[in-house]
Amino acid sequence: MFKEDLLKGKRILVTGGGSGLGKEMSRYFLQYGAEVLICGRRVSVLEETAKELMDEQGGSVKCYGLDIRGAQDVDNTINEIFEEGPIHGLVNNAAGNFISRTEDLSHRGFDAIASIVFHGTFYVTHSVGKRWLELGMGGNIISILATWVWTGGAFTVPSAMSKSGIYSMTQSLATEWGKTGIRINAIAPGPFPTEGAWARLSPGQDPDKASSDSSSYSQNPMGRVGEMEELGNLATFLMSDGCNYLNGQCIAIDGAEYLTGGNFYKSLSPLKDEDWDAIRDTIKTTNDKDKAKRSV
Ligand code: HXC
Repeated sequence: MFKEDLLKGKRILVTGGGSGLGKEMSRYFLQYGAEVLICGRRVSVLEETAKELMDEQGGSVKCYGLDIRGAQDVDNTINEIFEEGPIHGLVNNAAGNFISRTEDLSHRGFDAIASIVFHGTFYVTHSVGKRWLELGMGGNIISILATWVWTGGAFTVPSAMSKSGIYSMTQSLATEWGKTGIRINAIAPGPFPTEGAWARLSPGQDPDKASSDSSSYSQNPMGRVGEMEELGNLATFLMSDGCNYLNGQCIAIDGAEYLTGGNFYKSLSPLKDEDWDAIRDTIKTTNDKDKAKRSV
């Protein structure tokens, strides 16, 4: 779709780049010639991904173990990265989420999501942006949001609140930093099945089945889920030069699903206490497995 060297010479940092959407976008940046840096909490997962992408696409993928919830850790890692050479692009992709009735959330449950999505995304943006300003160079930021920034998100209130905050950051910084050559946009993906999101947002359902049997995805006006290439192409387009006047926007890529009312989780309203207990247990099993990988 694009010239093969479209992103040549660019270094792009993708938070949460070891898995899910971050990994897929990294694949496309690499394919179009960028050097890719991925950070995340699970170093073994990052390393596996870096190897897989380099074997497939060639080029260079560097890994940085980082939990973006720690402001000082973020500054240290961004310093380390800039000492090796400045980056030109940042994708705020790292996120945390799970479905829950809001009344069932503990304060720590709210914080677990807000500290990644709201605080962590700001820390990384702030740290990278400050260095770009010090160096007098421009830069390009894309944040991965959700269409819940327009519709609200029942049963995912901490994520919807946090992502809405990052939408506001996107609009605010586009105007505050407009003259500096830093531009900042966002993507709101609809259903792009990934293991991490599906395990916590549609527990018990197989993300591979959603992809392969997408004709049955009837709640979407296009009757299917998104294909990674479609997201990869949009991220590549936004990351490239040539549309620099595009600034402060959030672009939905969801087959027009949110225009039907953004009511995906309405179907959860009839669920009973025992259903929510089962959902919570299933998500907990996923989280425990992920934690075990973090200690590797
Ligand atoms: C209620 C829950 C819960 C659940 C965790 N908690 N899961 N509460 N229902 N299902 C509570 C815990 O009980 C605990 O509170 C608190 O949250 C912290 O839990 P930990 O497991 O210790 O947290 P932590 O290890 O920090 O994990 C963070 C996480 C986890 C967000 C909870 O899910 C995670 O690591 N996620 C990263 C990957 C991810 O979520 N990917 C999907 C992103 S999808 P108490 O009070 O009991 O101590 C996404 C898509 C959005 O963002 C848009 C889609 C359209």
